[in-house]
This record gives sequence, C-alpha cells and structure tokens, in this order.
Amino acid sequence: MSAPLLQTRDLQLAFGAVVVADQINFALHEGERLAVIGQNGAGKTTFINICTGLIRPDGGQVFFDGGEVTRLRPRAIARRGMVRSFQLPQLFTEHTVRDCLRLAAAGRQGTLGLWRALADVAPPREIDHVLQMVGLAERADELAGSLPEGQRKLLDIAMALLLKPRLLILDEPTSGVSTDEKHGLMATIMAALDEQKVTAIFVEHDVDIVSTYATRVAAWIAGKVAADGKPADVLADPLIRTQVIGE
Ligand SMILES: Nc1ncnc2c1ncn2[C@@H]1O[C@H](COP(=O)(O)OP(=O)(O)O)[C@@H](O)[C@H]1O
Ligand SMILES: [Mg+2]
Repeated sequence: MSAPLLQTRDLQLAFGAVVVADQINFALHEGERLAVIGQNGAGKTTFINICTGLIRPDGGQVFFDGGEVTRLRPRAIARRGMVRSFQLPQLFTEHTVRDCLRLAAAGRQGTLGLWRALADVAPPREIDHVLQMVGLAERADELAGSLPEGQRKLLDIAMALLLKPRLLILDEPTSGVSTDEKHGLMATIMAALDEQKVTAIFVEHDVDIVSTYATRVAAWIAGKVAADGKPADVLADPLIRTQVIGE
C-alpha cells in the first residue's frame, strides 16, 4: 500500500484531568471515505483540531503527505492540502454566495489586496463550476446569511473545495439538517468530492448515513480509537453498539 496521506503518532492531549486524545495512532490513505463516530465529548472535534493545527497536542506527531505538520499554523496546513469545515459553517454572512467563494479563492492565492477588485483575483469559471457542483448556482447573488442550514453547509464545503484540498475533514456536515434532507446533502457532497478526487473524513451520528457513504469507520470512545474498520464490521461490534450507537 502507498504511504498514508494522513498519519498520527502517539497523539496525546488532556484538558485538565480529562484526557481527550489518548495515544492516537491513526493512518488514512488516499481515496478513503472515513466516517468518525462517537458520543458527544469523545474527542472527535479535538482530533480534527489537532490535525489541522488549531490545537497543539501535549505529545505526539501529525504527518500529512509525508511531512510533519504538528507545529504548523492552520493556514500553512491548509496550503499543504488538509482543509476542514466546521460544525457551524464559518461564512461571511453579509456577503453574497458568489463573494464568499471569491474570498475563499482569493485567500488561497494570497492575492487579496485592497488595490485589486475581488472579481479580478478569483477565476470566475472555477467559481461557476463549484457553484454548479454544490447546486448553488441559482442562489449565487443571495446573501450567505439568508441560506437555509443545508445550503450553508454546501457553501462552506464549496469554499473549502476552492482551496484545492487533497483531504477534506467535515465536522458533522449533516448536523442541524432534517433527516429527510441528510441523504440529499451527503449525496451532493460526495459527488463533489468524487469529481475533485478529494479524500475525506466526516464526523457523523446517523448510522444510515455512515453505512451509505463511508468506506471505513473509526469509533472514538474517551479519546481513543475503540474500533476501526469496514462499516459493516464496526457498526455490528457489540461494544460500539452499546457504547457509541447507544442501543
Ligand atoms: N478548548 C477546550 N478546553 C477545555 N476543554 C475542552 C476544549 N475543547 C473541548 N473540550 C472538552 O474535551 C472533550 C472532547 O471534546 P470534543 O473533541 O469537542 O468532543 P466531540 O467532538 O467528540 O463531541 C469534551 O469533554 C469537551 O468539553
Ligand atoms: Mg464535535
């Protein structure tokens, strides 16, 4: 097998007396669709925060694409190709959908300066393409703040895709969206990731969504990866059924 795209070695972190990352050794390969499951407070978001440079671990290392990124800043890590979204989308709500995407593209290029108009720095064709991919073309001129939650999530993901990631980490992409809408939202996200050949990790609570879209599942319990493998195996594991899924 090829070298892992993302790898952690002995990641360790405690907040006071609470251990939230407990010797996490983890590897992800190009092309995987990994679902991360776990009860609230298990340390899923913290793991993402450590990998993407938002939080420094007490110990251990993170490697991405063969290089160590443990002490790099989030922007530097994003530039190397590891990009994340947030559970609550971080949008420019006072801007139009198209301007949010222009800002994201300009941020990537590092060319956003007061002396240049936003329209000049962001390639319009690329932005139109991303708008089509996530189904927001019709709403391009509306304010981001006016979008319903599902479309906010899609805009957030479109902004992340403009950073040209190799790995996109999605923290609860379907939270705050009705059960009926979840599948449509995930199908749109996954089609966009397939088209751009982006490897993905997504945190998800809905077992049905997990078994439909993941190629692999990792279950977090109290800062540890308690199970990691094929979705059918992990979701059938008695420990995971009682401790994580809550049956
Ligand atoms: N910045 C922080 N300072 C102190 N405690 C935190 C911080 N971030 C998270 N925690 C705690 O760490 C634990 C794991 O949180 P988190 O990673 O957000 O869990 P999950 O995403 O699995 O729900 C929780 O008990 C949470 O309250
Ligand atoms: Mg979380």
